[in-house]
Amino acid sequence: MAPRPIIIDTDPGQDDAIAILLALASPEFDVLGITVVAGNVPLKLTEMNARKICELAGKPETKVFAGCARPMMRSLVTAEEVHGKTGLDGPELPDPAMALQDQHAVDWLVETLRAAAPGGITLCTLGPLTNVAAALVKAPDIAGKIAEIVMMGGGFFEGGNVTPAAEFNIYVDPHAAHVVLSSGVKITMHPLDVTHKALMTRTWIDSLKALGNRTGAAAAAMLDFYERFDMEKYGEDGGPLHDPCVMAFLLQPDLFQGKDCNVQVETGSELTMGMTVVDWWGVSGRPANCHVINQIDAAGFYSLIHDRLARLP
Ligand code: BDR
Ligand code: CA
Repeated sequence: MAPRPIIIDTDPGQDDAIAILLALASPEFDVLGITVVAGNVPLKLTEMNARKICELAGKPETKVFAGCARPMMRSLVTAEEVHGKTGLDGPELPDPAMALQDQHAVDWLVETLRAAAPGGITLCTLGPLTNVAAALVKAPDIAGKIAEIVMMGGGFFEGGNVTPAAEFNIYVDPHAAHVVLSSGVKITMHPLDVTHKALMTRTWIDSLKALGNRTGAAAAAMLDFYERFDMEKYGEDGGPLHDPCVMAFLLQPDLFQGKDCNVQVETGSELTMGMTVVDWWGVSGRPANCHVINQIDAAGFYSLIHDRLARLP
């Protein structure tokens, strides 16, 4: 089968990094480019981190575009307490030699989607939705070119991770999330309800170290740093690894289960700003606009990542 053309929109982030490595290691994907947004850390760092990850994967030819430096309406909120000062604390990765593309990510998204066949490209979103929303606002005609958007974001039964009500990616730019969720594009959402059901284990992180390649060593160093925050926060033995759910879902959909629902984003109330209101029981009568994932085969998920990272340098 021909590889699936994807664009990864991201704010790396250690869990973004594992998701990007998983994509770059998988022949089922044709990664057309990586568009970067401000989120976990400011844009200058997220775009640099994206290039470091491509080079780690031995794929310096991957096109990386810098996009929006701040959310649509609100001030940028970052998450250094989770990801460290650089956003990618843990391993010592060299400064990237590969260049950042000159074109703005939003312009490239519009140009690339316009040139695609209807339903030709899948968007994998791992961060705040600012770039994707800006592209949809600039050029609403691109909606028909998107096969689907598979996103990590939101939380409902599990609550939020940055406020009691909101998950980070949606909280950072709730207005962008609203634009995306009301675009009419097919969407699959991986909220905290699913990512919190697949926690990393010490054995699994050690097994990455034991792969014997540089990617395994760097991934383990990233995750050693990254999971300490969630382990303290949730009092569990291991933290969730959110973003790779997006790629794993496209590679092996049978690892996941969910339901078509209506999802709306709170953009009015400061108390619940960025909350994803999932009509799980269909009580509102509002039409479904999103496939919401809530179940995962954790063992299958972690073995998929392990096996794919083994293929990288
Ligand atoms: C999301 O927020 C970020 O910190 C992670 O990279 C992930 O995309 C989880 O809420
Ligand atoms: Ca992310």
